[in-house]
Amino acid sequence: MQTPSQPHRRRTKAKFGAAYLRKWAEQRVAEALDRPEWCRPTQVCTALTSRCNFGCNFCPHPTAEVHHEMSLEQWKPILRELHAWLGLFRINFLGGEPMLHPEFFEILEFCRAEGILAGVTTNGSLLTEKNARRLAALEPFNVSISLDSIDPSKHDRNRDFKGSYAKIMRGLDYLNHYRSGGTRLCLRTTVMEWNVDELPDIADLARAHGTVVGFQPVEYRDLAESHASPADWRLAPDYADRTPNARFAGLSLDPATIPQNVGEHWVRNLGALDRSIAALVGKKRAGWPILNSVVHLESIQKYFHNPDFICKIDRECKTAWEHMIILPNGAIRSCSEQPTYGNLHQASLREIWTSEAARQHRDNCAKCERTCMNMFHWKRSIVEKASMFYEFF
Ligand SMILES: C[S@@+](CC[C@H](N)C(=O)[O-])C[C@H]1O[C@@H](n2cnc3c(N)ncnc32)[C@H](O)[C@@H]1O
Ligand code: SF4
Ligand code: SF4
Repeated sequence: MQTPSQPHRRRTKAKFGAAYLRKWAEQRVAEALDRPEWCRPTQVCTALTSRCNFGCNFCPHPTAEVHHEMSLEQWKPILRELHAWLGLFRINFLGGEPMLHPEFFEILEFCRAEGILAGVTTNGSLLTEKNARRLAALEPFNVSISLDSIDPSKHDRNRDFKGSYAKIMRGLDYLNHYRSGGTRLCLRTTVMEWNVDELPDIADLARAHGTVVGFQPVEYRDLAESHASPADWRLAPDYADRTPNARFAGLSLDPATIPQNVGEHWVRNLGALDRSIAALVGKKRAGWPILNSVVHLESIQKYFHNPDFICKIDRECKTAWEHMIILPNGAIRSCSEQPTYGNLHQASLREIWTSEAARQHRDNCAKCERTCMNMFHWKRSIVEKASMFYEFF
């Protein structure tokens, strides 16, 4: 096993951090003076493909009827344009399952050649030794693997993929063996009813395997994602008619109203939740490699106790200034709970960023009242932002 040397990653992280803070400052000035053309997003991610080989029943992706993905040749000008516009930046490749894209490695190779930092979030099913070796050689900035249980049968059942746990464990070992110090490995765990008592054990497993771990609560995804046309990422048809409380009613314990993609996963065992969060906070303070801040862990706890509490936070969300998501059909949005506001097949990134639709989108996000745990984009001081950045990236 190679010994990962950290100085290179630390240098890259420091440069990336400086670029991030510069862009963040530009955004605040541009926002105050209403001049979006003076600023750029700080984070970019893309659903490389909407296809997936898993059938996780808490995720909207497997239900899509029509699928899209752009080829390497289509990605090249987009990545070049992003680089010319943003300078040093990181693009996170997700999906669907990003490793199913037929040119996944070639796209990462292109990023490397162009000096673009690439991150990957994967279900881990395709991390064979050959693939892990190839991936590690491309030195992505981070590889995140979704793991929801330390019990193989529970993980496999809920992800609807037999053998997935074993593949993840093998893949982790291969990646650890072949990766350089420039790549950070991360486990991503979605907090649900059936794994809520295992969270401290998952943190232990991460530590034992030389990875960090990040926890996210299961969320109700309200978008209609039929993927049929470039504009086809819309809010659920009755969304506007419902008050925030009515939207949360879907998260009540009433089996008649609970949304299908949250249903059995919503945490009802609040005693187990409290014990797990207390244990994670203790571990975090004792130096375990947990990405969430203590505030974030405690917010996960409050969210399941009373999802309504998020509605009452004065969050004035900045996601539309900070985040850009590129969908596999070229559509752009800034939050996975908001509709799209442009398409790369119809206009350039900068045109989309400064368009009237983007302005409207920024207003909508600032006023957003959805149940959302995306605390990174809520109004914060530069000090809070910097510490969140440092812990999470
Ligand atoms: C949509 S997946 C895409 C990448 C890849 N297929 C994977 O599973 O890692 C990205 C992350 O979103 C999480 N996720 C899926 N549905 C969710 C939901 N309803 N609430 C919260 N997280 C969810 C997954 O567990 C995964 O960690
Ligand atoms: S593997 Fe990822 S994209 Fe696929 S269904 Fe599961 S969470 Fe969704
Ligand atoms: S608060 Fe922001 S990040 Fe959360 S759902 Fe609304 S727009 Fe999206």
